[in-house]
Amino acid sequence: MSSPTRAGLVCVDDLSRWDGRLPVALVGTVVGVEGRRRAFRDFARRISGDPAATIRHEDGRAPVLLDHAHLLLSSASRDGFAAFAAAETPVGIDVERVDPAGDIPLGVLHPAERDALALADEGGRAVAFAVIWACKEAYLKALGTGLARDPATVRVALAPAGPTIHDGTIRVPIHVEEHRRGETAFVVALATLPLPGA
Ligand SMILES: CC(C)(COP(=O)(O)OP(=O)(O)OC[C@H]1O[C@@H](n2cnc3c(N)ncnc32)[C@H](O)[C@@H]1OP(=O)(O)O)[C@@H](O)C(=O)NCCC(=O)NCCS
Repeated sequence: MSSPTRAGLVCVDDLSRWDGRLPVALVGTVVGVEGRRRAFRDFARRISGDPAATIRHEDGRAPVLLDHAHLLLSSASRDGFAAFAAAETPVGIDVERVDPAGDIPLGVLHPAERDALALADEGGRAVAFAVIWACKEAYLKALGTGLARDPATVRVALAPAGPTIHDGTIRVPIHVEEHRRGETAFVVALATLPLPGA
């Protein structure tokens, strides 16, 4: 499986910098659930060109842009930092905060990911875990299962060229960026999948 994720500018913090191509992701600070959903709706309106477009949110399901079936959406937030993605194929986005003081829940990882983290130096371990987890969630959102699927059943392979999801025989490269807000670092991961049957 190849990924249509393009190189170059994918995540922008201001849509005036968007080059008009898809996939695209917008990152920024939001306040509360209402603020996040308003910002997500505004993003979807801008991308679709429809000033009245609305998003249907349902617990445990990917958000759906009504009346624009060709545009697929994903959303994530962590500690007031949000990321929204739009693509013409299944898409998933996730944000994780890099937490150097946090415990790493090794039990939710694939054994090979645990081995990779054990080899990382102390400074790099928190970043590596944030990348692994963001990639898993982004991929599972693109699939539409979210964490209803056991995240240990997919493996994130870290490499200098960028992380890749290994899911059985399927390989999906994930676009990853690091963003800072003050002292805090966030990892944003964007997964795109081919259209079913393509
Ligand atoms: C999707 C999921 C991974 C989100 O995790 P999270 O860290 O709490 O929240 P994030 O900020 O990363 O993402 C939230 C967004 O995920 C999206 N989302 C929820 N379920 C989704 C799914 N199955 N597929 C794709 N996207 C989904 C929603 O758009 C939500 O944003 P919204 O509230 O603005 O609509 C998680 O809620 C999940 O797996 N839910 C489905 C399975 C489930 O309910 N399992 C029980 C608990 S394990």
